[in-house]
Amino acid sequence: MAKTIVLQIKEGKAKRPESKNKRVPAPEKRTADGMGKEVKTQKKTEKLQFIKTGIEGLDALFEKGIPKNSSVLIAGGAGSGKTLLCLQLLINAAKEGNKCLYLSFEESPERLKGHIERFGWGLGKNEKNLVISKLSLFDIGRSIDALLAKQSGDLLIDISPVILPENFKPDILVLDSLTAISSAFRGNEGTYRVYIEQLFRYFEKLGINTFLISETEQEPKVYSPTGVEEFLSDGVIVLYNMRKGNVRENGLEVLKMRGMKHTKKIVAMQILDKKGIEVYPEQEVFSV
Ligand SMILES: Nc1ncnc2c1ncn2[C@@H]1O[C@H](COP(=O)(O)OP(=O)(O)OP(=O)(O)O)[C@@H](O)[C@H]1O
Ligand SMILES: [Mg+2]
Repeated sequence: MAKTIVLQIKEGKAKRPESKNKRVPAPEKRTADGMGKEVKTQKKTEKLQFIKTGIEGLDALFEKGIPKNSSVLIAGGAGSGKTLLCLQLLINAAKEGNKCLYLSFEESPERLKGHIERFGWGLGKNEKNLVISKLSLFDIGRSIDALLAKQSGDLLIDISPVILPENFKPDILVLDSLTAISSAFRGNEGTYRVYIEQLFRYFEKLGINTFLISETEQEPKVYSPTGVEEFLSDGVIVLYNMRKGNVRENGLEVLKMRGMKHTKKIVAMQILDKKGIEVYPEQEVFSV
């Protein structure tokens, strides 16, 4: 590993958790501002917890934040900012002491690290809190085989639907992308649906926050590879790269967030050099 490498990078060396019982423990409660902030509801006995993305303007779209241990779909067209948004919120979470994992089927860890450097998001002493793993479709092949075996009547061995790195239990996980995974099931949509249900259940069981990237049309009507994923997710955030005459403008919309009041309009967003994503909650954008 070169001296200048900022992040822990694990490429293709990830291993499945040894057993179902070795679950990631629920992250401990944090009371400081930011990720994991504890919020007391009116009922004295009930405590709901929320996380903040730390992205300027984005957190203001939610009444309190993104519910802890929820799964959120980040949907959008090519170049709409899905990767950068997820990377930026992981960096912010890592700075707050959360363990963050970026699982990429798309870009290499070196490229993602390049984005982090270019935007000036260095983690300093918190670099150990972010792990970027490159996965190949081969890595989920065993799970696919097991599902196919089950469909053909063979015994289903207990198997996790996605490979997590050894010795790193994340509080927050980004999966880039569901679209890449779905391509491994081409021609076998039924099996993909079984897989995806298993994946959501697995994340729920782990008790972590997940952000699942989904590639869509620039102005989508369906937000995921099969359209089922947006119902399985607790939340959906849509990124737009909308055409207005001969220019394109970035927009962001919180389409749904279970159990949470949120802004219901497409608001302006920008990707700023050396800074990253900013969201403008008061500035609406419309496509022409
Ligand atoms: N330094 C920069 N300054 C301003 N904008 C930038 C900068 N770097 C990248 N961008 C913008 O960000 C876009 C890429 O963002 P990102 O990689 O997050 O998109 P994506 O939705 O993940 O794309 P894909 O679907 O290809 O994976 C570029 O198309 C460009 O418009
Ligand atoms: Mg991307």
